[in-house]
Amino acid sequence: MTQKKVLVTGGAGFIGGNFVQYMVDKYPNYAIHNLDLLTYAGDLTKHQSIEQQENYTFVKADIADREVIMILFEKEQFDYVVHFAAESHVDRSITEPDIFVQTNVVGTQVLLDASKKFGVQKFVHVSTDEVYGELDFDPMIFFTEQTPLAPNSPYSASKAASDFFVRAYHETYGLPVNITRCSNNYGPYHFPEKLIPLTISRVLNDQKVPVYGDGKNIRDWLHVWDHCAAIDLVLHKGVNGEVYNVGGHNERSNLEVVKTIIAALEKSEELIEYVKDRPGHDKRYAIDPTKLEQLGWKPTYTFETGIAQTIQWYLDNKEWWERILSGEYRGYFEKQYKL
Ligand code: NAD
Ligand code: TYD
Repeated sequence: MTQKKVLVTGGAGFIGGNFVQYMVDKYPNYAIHNLDLLTYAGDLTKHQSIEQQENYTFVKADIADREVIMILFEKEQFDYVVHFAAESHVDRSITEPDIFVQTNVVGTQVLLDASKKFGVQKFVHVSTDEVYGELDFDPMIFFTEQTPLAPNSPYSASKAASDFFVRAYHETYGLPVNITRCSNNYGPYHFPEKLIPLTISRVLNDQKVPVYGDGKNIRDWLHVWDHCAAIDLVLHKGVNGEVYNVGGHNERSNLEVVKTIIAALEKSEELIEYVKDRPGHDKRYAIDPTKLEQLGWKPTYTFETGIAQTIQWYLDNKEWWERILSGEYRGYFEKQYKL
């Protein structure tokens, strides 16, 4: 197998972390470099099982630090870049939009410059279906790669801006890029500020679960390991310059998700607490994954099998999420919900 040097940004986070583990295991001949600033969302303890592996290296750095990034790219001469690093939480973007511009837009542009200068063979930019805005509740309408971008939150606006820079570096400089736009991920090591891990951890602690508005907003749920396989495929087979949507046909309302978790843990629905709606709350996301399926991807999890696996993982790894909850996040939660 050809040796490749791969830079994964944001590999201490949820999806990037799962992807780093997937790549280290699947490609023993690749050198996997995980670059992460270790913000509140970054956690390296999840990599204890791989940190001694010869094909794994960690670098602590800010993607927006041009000088450091240029020195690193010059030294390492990466073949591939898979870019996950971002500020990723919509609610935080509503209260602190500046850091979303700095990391998601400026940071991406710095990585693009470095990739251009040092001849990276593929730059995969991990984006989100949220750049398309929202759909109404008509179940026959989905986001396709042709759907115009219409972001509604500071988070999705920053991701859309970064998508445009990635596109522009392909069109203007010929940088070999792909953009992936996935639906809501869930699975192991999901930070407990997001709906599914938040619900599991709070239900297990017999705490109220905050449901925004009437709970009827719909998300299309993608198991993180299916997402990792999709990115692997795009990295190796994606046609340069193309966008690929990842997700598909696992739509659930937030209330359905919360009730499914409560039932699986045999707790009472009285734990549900309806709270003030999120400003600009997108009604529905749903993905048409035909283009990626034609490239050769097929998800292995349904929502039912995926959520059962995920709940079991949180039961088996209580120590991990309890430690996360005891840190900076606790203050954030009290501020956000005033609970
Ligand atoms: P996450 O918040 O769990 O992890 C982000 C990681 O990036 C953290 O480890 C953090 O320390 C790191 N980071 C933040 N700022 C950085 C900086 N300036 N320099 C270097 N590292 C920095 O996010 P996630 O849920 O794993 O999402 C990963 C990517 O996937 C993001 O680009 C996000 O927009 C996208 N995405 C996520 C979802 C989802 O459901 N979680 C859905 C669609 C798209
Ligand atoms: P989230 O996990 O933050 O992902 P995103 O906003 O990127 O879709 O939220 C998923 C859905 O769950 C979204 O419609 C908002 C809703 N939600 C709640 O109802 N309560 C909560 O405490 C959180 C965090 C989210």
